[in-house]
Amino acid sequence: MKRDLDLPDPEATERLAADLAGCRPAWAVVYLEGGLGAGKSTLARALLRALGVKGAVRSPTYTLVERYPIPGGEAAHLDLYRLASAAELDFLGLDELAADATLWLIEWPERGKTLLPPADLRIQLSVHGKGRRARLRPGTQSGEAWLGRLEQAAQGPGAGQEVPRGS
Ligand SMILES: Nc1ncnc2c1ncn2[C@@H]1O[C@H](COP(=O)(O)OP(=O)(O)OP(=O)(O)O)[C@@H](O)[C@H]1O
Ligand SMILES: [Mg+2]
Repeated sequence: MKRDLDLPDPEATERLAADLAGCRPAWAVVYLEGGLGAGKSTLARALLRALGVKGAVRSPTYTLVERYPIPGGEAAHLDLYRLASAAELDFLGLDELAADATLWLIEWPERGKTLLPPADLRIQLSVHGKGRRARLRPGTQSGEAWLGRLEQAAQGPGAGQEVPRGS
């Protein structure tokens, strides 16, 4: 399934994040795609908050990765914008991370290339007027099932307005 959502303000992005958190699978890799200022960090931060991460969510712009305990495991929030080469990922200890992380939120995943675990869910964000548009694309059956649950959750008030056909 596909989903395209209009997110007219940051609060809409935060509601989408909360809905995604509420029906997440036990283990998931999420790619957050989109250019500078597209809203990737806003979504990642809101997802972590929705999972009970308290206090400031640090930006991994310089550290490349920040880790947080979440229910049932650990979240790894990566921002690979400053990654000089995919080989630099070795220094991050991706293997150890892979053993522990149950939720991966990866900004600028295209910089990590094939060294990253494949995405269960790709969230492609773009600027759309004063707001943002989110395209949700599953990469695995788990991601597809996740979007199915999200769709049910969004029947009520919640995530952004679905983009009308043809727009
Ligand atoms: N749905 C939205 N509508 C309007 N503004 C938004 C929306 N989501 C986020 N923003 C705003 O866009 C700005 C950039 O957001 P954010 O830092 O999350 O982008 P980013 O994709 O992480 O950018 P970068 O790649 O530069 O780190 C922030 O001021 C944020 O409040
Ligand atoms: Mg960011």
